[in-house]
Amino acid sequence: MSRNDLCWCGSGKKYKKCHEAFDERLDEIKFDFFKGQVRPPKKIINNKEDIEAIRAAGVINDGALDLAVSMAKPGVSTYEIDKAVHDYIMDAGGYPSCLDYEGFPKSICISINDVVCHGIPSKKTVLKEGDIANIDITTTLNGYYADASRMVMIGEVSPEAERLVRVTKECMELGIAAVKPWHFLGDVGAACGAHAHKNGYSVVTDLGGHGVGKDFHLEPFVPHVGQVGTGMLLVPGMTLTVEPMINEGSYHVVVDQGDGWTVRTKDHKLSAQWEKTILVTETGTEVLSS
Ligand code: MF3
Ligand code: CO
Ligand code: CO
Repeated sequence: MSRNDLCWCGSGKKYKKCHEAFDERLDEIKFDFFKGQVRPPKKIINNKEDIEAIRAAGVINDGALDLAVSMAKPGVSTYEIDKAVHDYIMDAGGYPSCLDYEGFPKSICISINDVVCHGIPSKKTVLKEGDIANIDITTTLNGYYADASRMVMIGEVSPEAERLVRVTKECMELGIAAVKPWHFLGDVGAACGAHAHKNGYSVVTDLGGHGVGKDFHLEPFVPHVGQVGTGMLLVPGMTLTVEPMINEGSYHVVVDQGDGWTVRTKDHKLSAQWEKTILVTETGTEVLSS
């Protein structure tokens, strides 16, 4: 690409005024094959307009999460929360990305107690005192995606459940703190995993975070365990989720053979999850949905 061409990122600016210095820095890096270090593909690097669009999807997504959390009380069915969130996102001009995603039947995921993720809202599933639940919402706006989830504690929950919810949030925050431009993705899993294991918990490895933005699930897969200095290089303009699923018991999970979606802990012990959509900036990170 010549210096006066338009930049590959789609900004409309000349290459020399846009990603030329970025590419020079990238070209200096020696990727260590034995550490699984890889160069990020251009298609997952967002320009200013892309980031603005993901941020706007994130604003609706955060509002939808606020609504869902405010409704999560004993006696409320997960169907009611799903319906309200569906209408909220549609009224805001967005689309609830989970609806019809690979055949998923509802607008959001609500995963209670031993359900790790992908719980399907239903009239028959009624929240009760002592439950812990993850509410996971993704919004599409103008073709861009923002994805986040939060835990809710229904009424009074056991001290054990409360500790799992708190430590899982800390795992996510420590993972996000490890996201740094020109560092490697393995740092994120190393930070998440160390905190979970130190607290006597296990980390789900069958599922993980992901690139997000121009599509729902993009490269890279984001593991929540790992080794510092391994995996994909993190560079400014990447957007990804950090969404550790942390179990009280073993990390083994089983997918419900009836509905094909609901993921449960194999030992039926509790699981918790928190998720944010994060932008890698020149200096660190910015939260785009939480
Ligand atoms: N929001 C989930 C994630 O964090 C994906 C849910 S896909 C669905 O990646 F089909 F189950 F909705
Ligand atoms: Co999600
Ligand atoms: Co996600």
